Amino acid sequence: MESDRLSQEEIKGLIKKAIEARRKSYSPYSHYQVGAALLTADGQIITGCNIENAAYGPSNCAERTAFFKAVSEGICDFSAIAIVGSPEGEELTQYAYPCGVCRQVMREFCEPSQFQIIVAKAEDDYRVMTLAELLPESFGPENLREE
Ligand code: THU
Repeated sequence: MESDRLSQEEIKGLIKKAIEARRKSYSPYSHYQVGAALLTADGQIITGCNIENAAYGPSNCAERTAFFKAVSEGICDFSAIAIVGSPEGEELTQYAYPCGVCRQVMREFCEPSQFQIIVAKAEDDYRVMTLAELLPESFGPENLREE
């Protein structure tokens, strides 16, 4: 199945929200700030930032913050996520790809060939991939069903 491609304007809008969310990053230990903007199937945008913890282990990535906010409000259908991450400061110096744990959380709720992941350094400097490209041959909810 072909995934519905987002327009350039939609992508820019998502990146802008991810950049705003990154300003809320609570990252006093790594000083690495991440923001994410998750686009729901019905067009809402739900943001998240990374939230660290003095005990390190309980820290949460920006992508999972956005997913868990959405799912905890009953929203479970998603089209895309924009992610921006770089060391502390306004400047985005790298494309921040989602970590393995976040990719697996995406896999729980998203169709791998459809869900689009945008990593950006600016509103007009980004890469778009599908979850299937970033998490090939994956394990998901349907593996647990007898069919
Ligand atoms: N981080 C994210 O928020 N998303 C990722 O996909 C990778 C890493 C956060 C976790 C931690 O707060 C900081 O970046 C450094 O690892």
